Amino acid sequence: MISNIDHIAIAVHDLDQALERFKALTGATEEQIRLDEVPAEKVRVAFIRIGNSKIELMEPLDPTSPVARFLEKRGEGLHHIALETKDLDAEIARTAKEKLLPLSEPSEGAGNKKIVFFNPKDTGRVLVEFVQKNQE
Ligand code: CO
Repeated sequence: MISNIDHIAIAVHDLDQALERFKALTGATEEQIRLDEVPAEKVRVAFIRIGNSKIELMEPLDPTSPVARFLEKRGEGLHHIALETKDLDAEIARTAKEKLLPLSEPSEGAGNKKIVFFNPKDTGRVLVEFVQKNQE
């Protein structure tokens, strides 16, 4: 079951600047904000917690990052939407019946989570991520 919108991710050129902008927009305090790096994606990220969801700001760490290529092609803006599940394998099996297959095997995302992405060509040009949190 998909139980929550885990996060909405936005690609940005300058993380510090974007974070200031979103702090101004949302009134988020430091306790709501977590900074992290995802070496696999070569990005620096900031998560702003809002209720049960987060806004994730992603800045590429080098030009070979997929996010750098995204910024080149499409500019700053919505990068992906992440939906939370407690059972990633079950959700992959469910979507496979709908002929929607993830782009790859589950991998490790930011904050020690198991994630997959679906091909935006199959999902109305919006990159969709499924997230399963490890036991907290
Ligand atoms: Co994400």
